[in-house]
Amino acid sequence: MKVIVIGNGGREHAIAWKLAQSSSVTDVICVPGNGGTALEEKCTNIDPSSYSGELSGNDVFVKIAQDNSCTLAVVGPENPLAEGMADAFWKAGIPAVGPKYAAAQLEASKDLAKDFMQKYGVACAESKTFTDEAQALTYIEEKGAPIVVKADGLAAGKGVIVAQTVQQAKDAVKELMEGGMVGDAGKKLVIEQYLRGAEISILAAVSVTPEYAKEGKACIVPFLSARDHKRLLDGAKGPNTGGMGAISPVDDVTPLIMSQFEKNILEPTLKGLVAEGYDYRGFIFFGLMLTAEGPKCLEYNVRLGDPETQAVLPLMDFDFKKMCDAIVDGSLKSFDFKWKKGYVVAPVAVSGGYPKSYKKGIPIEIAKAKIASDAKIFVAGAIEERCAHKDGTPSLVTSGGRVLACSAYGDTFDEAWKKAYSTMGAVKFKDMFYRKDIGLPGAAESN
Ligand code: AMP
Ligand code: GLY
Repeated sequence: MKVIVIGNGGREHAIAWKLAQSSSVTDVICVPGNGGTALEEKCTNIDPSSYSGELSGNDVFVKIAQDNSCTLAVVGPENPLAEGMADAFWKAGIPAVGPKYAAAQLEASKDLAKDFMQKYGVACAESKTFTDEAQALTYIEEKGAPIVVKADGLAAGKGVIVAQTVQQAKDAVKELMEGGMVGDAGKKLVIEQYLRGAEISILAAVSVTPEYAKEGKACIVPFLSARDHKRLLDGAKGPNTGGMGAISPVDDVTPLIMSQFEKNILEPTLKGLVAEGYDYRGFIFFGLMLTAEGPKCLEYNVRLGDPETQAVLPLMDFDFKKMCDAIVDGSLKSFDFKWKKGYVVAPVAVSGGYPKSYKKGIPIEIAKAKIASDAKIFVAGAIEERCAHKDGTPSLVTSGGRVLACSAYGDTFDEAWKKAYSTMGAVKFKDMFYRKDIGLPGAAESN
């Protein structure tokens, strides 16, 4: 059986790697994939631009899937989902893991997501939406600081400003609405109560359609908890990034917190997905703040997290392809989820200069003999070098800010941590940078 995976990040490398472990999978077609998937067993990269011709948009990806006889599609990132890629696959008769267009807007519009949370009683921060600048500024004065200003649309992580003063919040409103800091995404703003606590991510599998709901099969099944580390420097300092490393599971997620999450966030979300009549067969990412009043939902992402996926997937002790089949065919409720008992630590190596400007095309050396047992390097911003080494071994060059993650499993957190960082020692490229404290006390952002 052949599966197509859409995307080119570390998350998609981890998905392709996990799919390739399934005995029922013969080929994973990665579009476009990256240097990691290029070298992965059973995986083949296809560049969609080489394929377009008369086709455009989602049609290109559907055609690639058809030409390669793929019988399942897994869509990694949010952008294609928000543009209806899952709908296009289903229309062509190819089951797709990823919500259809309407449900994918839960990530694409923060206003819609907040409306949804409030309508169905999901525990979240109080908020109000504005399209009028003067009204937004008055609201900020009424509420005071700290306060959070969010662009409504997809803004690649640049649309949220946690303002410590009223002035900062007002400046943020002006920059987003007038300055076009994030383009059209900033024309509508959500202004939100500031929540105090530590953040965690819970990724989950979702199988919801109106038909499954009628038959009692609709469900959301949470995975083990995970935590991203968004700040660039040790001790949660420096600018925000796309993620400097992840761990799973997170020990501060007690059984009490998990049951509060299920009752106050997961169950009302499921009720809402059903009530809205969505076709949502894919993954959901709950961004949570662990406040003194219990967990609150900061955001929904309609996909797996990056780099959380690189920490969570190695803990799965089940067949990922079979889980995907269960998501699409409505049997997820009875799927046998088994998890490894230990921990994964996954620090990320970035290009020097990231998250600002950085060089690309830098050769990466990986001393394979130094990669720890139970460790895996998931490639993100790196591609296969066009000309291979003299001895024929292909090699990687950097192509992005976040270059790779060294993901390691251990029976204990300490063991996983040591293996992850000893594997990082096997990787070298010019101006390489990584945090040395992923998962340690004081490493995670908290308010
Ligand atoms: P979001 O894209 O909504 O997850 O926001 C990005 C980041 O901003 C989050 O990961 C939090 O660190 C922070 N953030 C978002 N909303 C709030 C809030 N209501 N209170 C405090 N911090 C927040
Ligand atoms: N790790 C955060 C995200 O995937 O959005």
